[in-house]
Amino acid sequence: MADSVRKHVVPHTKAHKTLHLASPEPLGSVTPEEAQLLEKLHIKTLPRHVAVIMDGNGRWAQNRHLPRIAGHRAGTQSARTTIETCARLKIDALTLYAFSVENWRRPKTEIDFLMQLLREYLKKEMPLLQKNEIRMRFLGRVEELPAAVQKDVREAMEKTAANKGMVLCIALNYGGRAEIVDAMNRILAERNGNGASSPVTEEQLARHLYTGGLPDPDLLIRTSGEMRVSNFLLWQIAYAEIYVTETLWPDFNRARLLEAFVEYQKRERRYGGIREGEADTDKPARVAGE
Ligand code: FPP
Repeated sequence: MADSVRKHVVPHTKAHKTLHLASPEPLGSVTPEEAQLLEKLHIKTLPRHVAVIMDGNGRWAQNRHLPRIAGHRAGTQSARTTIETCARLKIDALTLYAFSVENWRRPKTEIDFLMQLLREYLKKEMPLLQKNEIRMRFLGRVEELPAAVQKDVREAMEKTAANKGMVLCIALNYGGRAEIVDAMNRILAERNGNGASSPVTEEQLARHLYTGGLPDPDLLIRTSGEMRVSNFLLWQIAYAEIYVTETLWPDFNRARLLEAFVEYQKRERRYGGIREGEADTDKPARVAGE
């Protein structure tokens, strides 16, 4: 890996899977597979904002003849690994899709379990979040969540508000269409008769989204193979690179995340333009904003 990233390769053995070497930065001990992937990565062009649709918990559990909730519990370990790795690689923002507005259609026992799991997670992982200087945000209609969840969410935001590292967004009771509607209603409420006839701009709408102030995701990862965006960050992923892996979320480990970054760095981002050097004339007909 280029520049500042130093790695400490630890061979996998049956007896000793993860050795912890006294390693300063940034990922600590790595497996040979992770080391190979790190070798291919350029630290300076990592995505600024990574968004993840964590799918496949139910299938992972079913494959093991376990109840679906066992898959969700196993999924928290992948969330932990992803959060810690992104924070250590100094990615600006990570957004995890934890509960959609559509997820209320699931059985009540599963919904209750997911809410409980999130509450446990926030409590248990607070030291890790603080140690990595992570600032928490929640995207979605938080005010519709059970009161106890709302309280924990508020506390997590307050406790981490002064942190200066990665912003971790948990999308909770989140819907992309609902977000755009909420943004429009916030704009209308703010105007309250003032300037009501002036058109809403893209920039103004973006500022009023739940993600206001954050860069748009450069990379959207979806686990478990479905080719859908599932009402996730509809506005913000307009130019994102999409990476779909067959890996089920509970199996999505650090190597799989690094693999997604390597793949992302192979893509040439064009934002509607053409490849460098392919122009017939050297001046674009129109530059955005002109
Ligand atoms: C989708 O899998 C997953 C969810 C709806 C819940 C995601 C929650 C977690 C990973 C655990 C908690 C996360 C945090 C951030 C604490 P699915 O149930 O739709 O799987 P399936 O498609 O195989 O049925």
